[in-house]
Amino acid sequence: MAYQRVLVVGNGGREHALAWALSRDPGVGQVHIAPGNPGTAQVGVNHPVDALDGAAVAALAKRLDADLVVVGPEAPLVAGVADAVRAVGIPVFGPSAAAARLEGSKSFAKEIMAAAGVPTAAARVCVTPQEAAAALDAFGPPYVVKDDGLAAGKGVIVTDDREAALKHAEGCRKVVVEEFLDGPEVSLFALSDGKNVLAFEPAQDFKRVGDQDKGPNTGGMGAYTPLPWADAGLTGEVVAKVIQPTVDELARRGTPFVGLLYAGLALTSKGVRVVEFNARFGDPETQPLLTRLQTPLGEVLYAAATGKLAGHAPLEWGSGAAVAVVIAAGGYPGTPRRGDAIGGVGGDGIFHAGTALNEAGDLVSDGGRLLAVVGTGDDLAQARQAAYAKAGQVQIDGSFYRGDIALRAANGEIHPPTLTEVTA
Ligand code: AMP
Ligand code: GLY
Repeated sequence: MAYQRVLVVGNGGREHALAWALSRDPGVGQVHIAPGNPGTAQVGVNHPVDALDGAAVAALAKRLDADLVVVGPEAPLVAGVADAVRAVGIPVFGPSAAAARLEGSKSFAKEIMAAAGVPTAAARVCVTPQEAAAALDAFGPPYVVKDDGLAAGKGVIVTDDREAALKHAEGCRKVVVEEFLDGPEVSLFALSDGKNVLAFEPAQDFKRVGDQDKGPNTGGMGAYTPLPWADAGLTGEVVAKVIQPTVDELARRGTPFVGLLYAGLALTSKGVRVVEFNARFGDPETQPLLTRLQTPLGEVLYAAATGKLAGHAPLEWGSGAAVAVVIAAGGYPGTPRRGDAIGGVGGDGIFHAGTALNEAGDLVSDGGRLLAVVGTGDDLAQARQAAYAKAGQVQIDGSFYRGDIALRAANGEIHPPTLTEVTA
């Protein structure tokens, strides 16, 4: 097979899910991970290589005679790790540094969207407190202030408190101040070969740390798929209005996007709006999505990496639902406690993120988001039950998780505004 040996770069829950799904593809013979975590070691071979070191990753890919390299997280993508591997002639699933700016710079993303006619929140780029203050007053509350650069999901503040919004802006070098978007949020992923795209089913994630969306933003505390409340035409609409125009614009500029384009969307009363782009698989949406994906993952990522998505069959999905609940260390999203023993993680569908082996070889906590436990079932209610049963088995002192992941969707309480108005 063309994609026998696959190297996954990264060490989070997303990379564990990618390595797991690749290991289930009959066309994949070996899965390697750099550097990986104790979870990825269960489904492949970990290599102690710095994910941010493009030369080291390229050398490892060469040494392994890898057929395909999949770069997971945003930091190596923005640092050009995919470029370094492409330069040695190995197919890569993951955008170049130039294309990853779509995630690495909020102002660049706004520029691309404006050029491509993609609907998003009105915004102003500000570099001084005076500019930020004027923008806050122009848009009014609730105030939305975003650090321009990468911030692991924590660079955005949404608040009614003008002082807090201004303080956040003053703490950043460059910010994007934008119009508040209401309505439910959706994460829509699409594979791109630089030209052609192939969409995933939509998912929803939970960004705030506490139940009922209380507390600060995090990297994501849970996710579920599918969205029983969403219009059947949603994916097609987003591909037509958001994904394809963005991919076309990056190709036109000579920086084609090869990898996973993640559109974070708000379904507002004025129509679909892009909240943010990411240049990689979302975490924790990837864990439940790949749990439901039936199409062999290696085959489709290789097709994208080698420019062969044209005419590819649509992705196939299991008929049921999947829910991921993230177990986080005490203190997260602030400084998490570390080194606590982890027990009760023997079963299927438990994806590791901030875990490590201590000197005695025992599994311990070593980060903010520790695990994503995925439950499946015929519908969201069943999948929730399965996920929470698993979460209840996990033992980590001081850890916590949200109790309401997918709850409102399971109860039929999410009602997106009807998408009638044509977006300008
Ligand atoms: P981002 O990093 O841009 O995805 O922002 C993180 C989170 O902040 C999003 O998932 C939303 O929940 C919230 N957010 C970002 N932009 C807006 C906006 N314009 N209006 C309302 N909420 C927003
Ligand atoms: N789930 C949000 C993210 O991956 O950024």
